[in-house]
Amino acid sequence: MKITKLYARQVLDSRGNPTVEVEAWFNHIRATAIVPSGASTGKYEALELRDGKKDYGGKSVLKAVDHVNTTIAKRLVGMEFLDQKAIDEFLISLDGTKNKGKLGANAILGVSMAVARLAAKVRHEELYVYLGELAGTGKKNFRMPIPFANIINGGKHAGSSLKIQEFMIAPVGARTFAQAAQMCAETYHVLKGLVEEKYGKSATNVGDEGGFAPQLSTPEEALELITAAIKKAGYRGRIKIAIDAAASEFYANGLYTLDRPYTPQELVEYWVRLLKQYPIISLEDPFDQDDVDSFARLTAIAGKMKVIIIGDDLLVSNPERIQAAIDKRLCTGLLLKVNQIGTVTEAISAAKLAQLAGWIVMVSHRSGETEDTFIADLAVALGCGKIKIGAPCRTDRVCKYNRLLRIQDDKIPYK
Ligand code: PGA
Ligand code: ZN
Repeated sequence: MKITKLYARQVLDSRGNPTVEVEAWFNHIRATAIVPSGASTGKYEALELRDGKKDYGGKSVLKAVDHVNTTIAKRLVGMEFLDQKAIDEFLISLDGTKNKGKLGANAILGVSMAVARLAAKVRHEELYVYLGELAGTGKKNFRMPIPFANIINGGKHAGSSLKIQEFMIAPVGARTFAQAAQMCAETYHVLKGLVEEKYGKSATNVGDEGGFAPQLSTPEEALELITAAIKKAGYRGRIKIAIDAAASEFYANGLYTLDRPYTPQELVEYWVRLLKQYPIISLEDPFDQDDVDSFARLTAIAGKMKVIIIGDDLLVSNPERIQAAIDKRLCTGLLLKVNQIGTVTEAISAAKLAQLAGWIVMVSHRSGETEDTFIADLAVALGCGKIKIGAPCRTDRVCKYNRLLRIQDDKIPYK
């Protein structure tokens, strides 16, 4: 079966920035995909092509759109689309650069995702079933993931002085995904009450990923609020906490600036203190993307405490960087973001590589999201058991929860 038409347009993401939407057609059947976009992007990510002109403050993506409509469409129309690997390899070679900078990773990923969706549609399969086939997972390994809900937003996603980017809750004690979603939403609402009580109504405004963004300055304040909310909601012991520091954002000249400047060694010690004090199960990007020594040091300690150290900017979902991190024991978990690497096939390879090394894999949204729910299907297909989808608030985040609630009805087990 061959692609009969490929078409891209510029649409908007959750921050009101332009992004690429791609339609892949087989006769009268159309499948679409929209590309997400990060704010605290890692420096080794595949290149998101933006026009840099005056439209949308330099952020329009008309060049990437044009690459789909001309260069890519010219070659891909007439190509067999049931072979995702061949399509993705072709896109990679058509671009020819290491960071997909010529056509733009946003152009390439939009096509890659739309083609996968078209294949699933034509085969009358749910997307997660098709992605599972691509990953070689097998239906018995499909799992509903634990949602990691970012309920306090800081760093680049909020306007407070909180340097740490994300404080998440993870309902590990739920029995079903529906229960997990309920636990997240209830705790989120209890937290809203606590935030209002302590910091006033304006503090309940939300950040980019739907979490609250009160004027906090230390991680301890955020962790105390969340711990209190979990307890008040009645989920003590059943909801754990996760952090994404996104530390590359507050690192400069060898120092990490939180409430004061920390040397890398001081920050290692600080993290260990926090891990001992609070029920934290995972810590993402605790150091700058190039501070590999500190990653290795903390990972060795955290392993004994059964805390997962997750690499996001460190790994950028790139199989080469993941392999290097496995060899050097830099972390024990992969944050998988499809747009960091730019094709569905490479994202699946990245996940499999990490899983083979015994790491955990957490599929992730970006801070700039859309109504596209591709990542929900991907998490179920990989059977990885973890997904980061923001707070249960705002439709760009909620649509992932809702897609998972629908998939759950296919009797997929939780975790
Ligand atoms: P980003 O944030 O999408 O802005 O990069 C998400 C994350 O760091 O995990
Ligand atoms: Zn991150």
